[in-house]
Amino acid sequence: MSSGRDNPKDRARRICAGLALLVTGCSATPEPVTSSNAAVIAHRGASGYLPEHTLEAYTVGFEMGADFLEPDLVMSRDGHLVCSHDLTVTSRSNVTFLYPDLVDAAGEVWIKDLFLAELRKIEVTDEDGEGSYRYATFSELLDLTGLLGTRKGEKVGLIPELKAPAWHRERGLPMEGALIDELAKAGYLTRGDPVIVQGFDRDSLQRMRSEHGCSFPLVLCLRKQPKEDDLEWAAENCEGVAPHRASIEDPLTGATTGLLARARELGLSVFPYTFKDEVAAMRRFLHVHRVEGIFTDFPDKGVAARDKP
Ligand code: G3P
Ligand code: CA
Repeated sequence: MSSGRDNPKDRARRICAGLALLVTGCSATPEPVTSSNAAVIAHRGASGYLPEHTLEAYTVGFEMGADFLEPDLVMSRDGHLVCSHDLTVTSRSNVTFLYPDLVDAAGEVWIKDLFLAELRKIEVTDEDGEGSYRYATFSELLDLTGLLGTRKGEKVGLIPELKAPAWHRERGLPMEGALIDELAKAGYLTRGDPVIVQGFDRDSLQRMRSEHGCSFPLVLCLRKQPKEDDLEWAAENCEGVAPHRASIEDPLTGATTGLLARARELGLSVFPYTFKDEVAAMRRFLHVHRVEGIFTDFPDKGVAARDKP
């Protein structure tokens, strides 16, 4: 009698086909994921070149040929998803000048304390104190990818990550439904659309499916020191994992750990993070370790590493 679960080989084939559909485009007979069509993910946009999570950084990431743009997402006081890795506003901004009453004892202003209209007034500079950038909402990113996708002739890949979803929920700001609703409004509706939902929070990933009908592949992000049962949990609940690269290959000795082999046994796709301007390392992960994708701050270098082995 069938247990209702795939055996590992079927599962691996199904995942491979699903991810191939995402990585190589929506054809009826997707190619398997190989090192030549693995996904280059623009980590926080092309964040090696421009301030992270700005519309400018996402646009350059797309133009450099990234297969997926990565927005980290937090939430404003009035429930808008905002593209940011941090829960607080960057110190490279005029936020403390604009909103002195919101500055906490540590000198920080929390994005969850700001209405979107207030966030929009904040000006951000680059690391040299130059330029003038703005926070982007997820909705604005989706407007941008709509335009870029029209020019490309296919939808732009996205791999959103909710930051601190339990912390937001405790403060009356549930994020999962907002993410799925925004994606749907922008036309990302079915599993064939190029979206992978990633996150460190297991409960949040489960809610995506059980409460919000998320049909996109799920990827569990792993800490530098993964938990003992991370891979087994991911195999039960997700299609892939995003491990810290050091948990695959020791940065000092270059020795490979057992994580990749175990992930393979469990039929999981693997998307290590994060690569800087390191073409040789990206080549090794893509063509020797044969991961399904890499997060990089330098998408042009990631594309070069993949396409010129
Ligand atoms: O989501 C994968 C990677 O981006 C996790 O690290 O801290 O850059 O979000 P972080
Ligand atoms: Ca991230």
